[in-house]
Amino acid sequence: SIVILDFGSQFTRLIARRFRELGAYSVILPGTAPLERILKERPQGLVLSGGPSSVYDEHAPKPAPGVLDLDIPILGVCYGMQFLAQQAGGNVKRAGKREYGKADLTRYGGQLFAGIQGEFVAWMSHSDSVTQLPAGYEVVAETEDTPVTAIENPVTRRYGVQFHPEVVHTPKGGQLLANFLDICGVARDWNAEHIIEELISDVQAQVGDGRVLLGISGGVDSSTLALLLARAVGEKLTAVFIDHGLLRLGEREQVEAALRPLGVNLITVDAREEFLGALAGVSDPEQKRKIIGREFIRAFEREARQHGPFDFLAQGTLYPDVIESAGGEGAANIKSHHNVGGLPDDLAFKLVEPFRTLFKDEVREIARLLGLPEHIRMRHPFPGPGLAIRVLGDITPEKLDILKRVDDIFISGLREFGLYDGCSQALAILTPIQSVGVMGDERTYSYTAALRAVTTDDFMTAEWARLPYDFLATMSNRIVNQVHEINRVVYDITGKPPATIEWE
Ligand code: XMP
Repeated sequence: SIVILDFGSQFTRLIARRFRELGAYSVILPGTAPLERILKERPQGLVLSGGPSSVYDEHAPKPAPGVLDLDIPILGVCYGMQFLAQQAGGNVKRAGKREYGKADLTRYGGQLFAGIQGEFVAWMSHSDSVTQLPAGYEVVAETEDTPVTAIENPVTRRYGVQFHPEVVHTPKGGQLLANFLDICGVARDWNAEHIIEELISDVQAQVGDGRVLLGISGGVDSSTLALLLARAVGEKLTAVFIDHGLLRLGEREQVEAALRPLGVNLITVDAREEFLGALAGVSDPEQKRKIIGREFIRAFEREARQHGPFDFLAQGTLYPDVIESAGGEGAANIKSHHNVGGLPDDLAFKLVEPFRTLFKDEVREIARLLGLPEHIRMRHPFPGPGLAIRVLGDITPEKLDILKRVDDIFISGLREFGLYDGCSQALAILTPIQSVGVMGDERTYSYTAALRAVTTDDFMTAEWARLPYDFLATMSNRIVNQVHEINRVVYDITGKPPATIEWE
């Protein structure tokens, strides 16, 4: 294995992720982990991550005694490199300039860069720099601003890079990390099947004989988690799927059909009356969200008491959620609890979050191996409040029914025309606007439906998807022909910002 010692960089998990992509098994341990703990992992190589500290800070975290004397290759990244250099007798100085962003290597070579050709763009984020090399080391890369950008000591097999090879802004960083794996002689046979085995044994170790409760949303994360937990703890898992009446056409049936046959102990709760009753006559978007959140907790709590007691609450928290909530373990848990909306204290569960080190595409790969059907596995995200925030204004069963049919025509159409995977999210909105039209010599006075499709990497900003006119024309025809309550279809051509993805 490769052991990654974490000194607090926001990119540490990305290093592990790159190694996984390269088929190598790695473990992240705290930067100060004792030697015995590290040796337990039978490391064939060590990575010292970056971090916010300066090697001169009084409390700068350091590897435990003996760790740097291990006779295995060591790669220091950013802070890690500075630490390696200083510890071997080199000099690190606060540079006059802070270097941040992309930089071109003006020269590179040596073992770490073996086989890499052409331009090498490196992502930098540092102020300290190595100014004097320790004995036995040589400089193997430089940029205009940083003469010592990468160093190596081929005899002791110590390597350092000032930039971050693990981020996407260093396009050839993967090759560099692969070279490090080769230097370490690490097997490249680690794959999603191994990850599943490891997740299952971790869950079993954590949960023991305890009982686990999981809320199912129908999205890929919670569905995949249900399949994993069913394998890990079988009947001790209770998965609760709340049908709040704000789901898409056939969604409840699809989730049931996908999960039950694969051994998930699934309870579907029909809470449509409660939700729609509480929402009746409410048209303020924030008010709608609050009511849904509140009803959700009520329904979930009721089921937890009825089928409990439970020892654990499982959540499909992904690594990006952990980063967003500011990283620290404590902070991450607060946000996770918030995901189910602050359950009362007497329902105090311990959390099981097997995916908290993984990224979305990795969960999708796990989902594939666990047998989650494609239409759920590759589905666009769907908001917790469901169609409630897509029926603008107050919600009635009739309006929901109209929107479900419009949405189904649009989403099915995107799939049929091979456009679905090219969009990050697509949705239909039922507006309260009624307008005049003509159909078969008859005057109509009906609703306007809006279609929206966006492309985005992170949903923080988005572009409207340039769907082909012919496709939009087909959708418009199908919708007004099949959904008689609609006589006008518009396509939203606004980006985010200034608009949001949802209309409420
Ligand atoms: P906006 O509309 O803010 O949406 O651009 C960004 C992403 O978040 C989803 N979204 C929600 N998800 N509860 C959720 O679970 C919500 O209240 C909510 N509001 C928006 C939205 O679908 C999009 O993917």
